[in-house]
Amino acid sequence: MQLSVNGERRDLGGDPRTTLLDFLRHSCGLTGTKKGCDHGQCGACTVLVNGIRINSCLTLAVMHEGDEVTTIEGLGTPADLHPLQAAFVAHDGYQCGYCTPGQICSAKGMIDEATRGWASFVSEDLSATPRLTREEIAERMSGNLCRCGAYPNIVDAILEVVE
Ligand code: FES
Repeated sequence: MQLSVNGERRDLGGDPRTTLLDFLRHSCGLTGTKKGCDHGQCGACTVLVNGIRINSCLTLAVMHEGDEVTTIEGLGTPADLHPLQAAFVAHDGYQCGYCTPGQICSAKGMIDEATRGWASFVSEDLSATPRLTREEIAERMSGNLCRCGAYPNIVDAILEVVE
């Protein structure tokens, strides 16, 4: 049994009760994905599975055989930041930074969701840019908590990417 993590094949061995979050952190060594509540409440563990954002603490790794998982490490590198990562830096979209990987993965998934939704509503052009308002972004990102309260800057960063 295998899945792909950031483009690399990984074996799904070990305890079948292992969550995807613990698999990523402990079996893959990808500690960018954070454990906050471990109960689906905070969004710190958000990753993309086949392009859809999910809370990795709420699903078992063995349920993802054949899936493509993308973590924050798969979005960009320090030398080549993803546009969302660069925007979070430019807008100070964090304070302690603990929630930031989940925020950015969630924002990536949200933009892709909005792009697909907007495209299917307006045209078949899947490259159509979503036109999200500040309020829509705040609502769509409400599953990702920031205990530092950096929400205005997080929304500013996402707005820069979608505008
Ligand atoms: Fe998964 Fe909080 S650690 S939602």
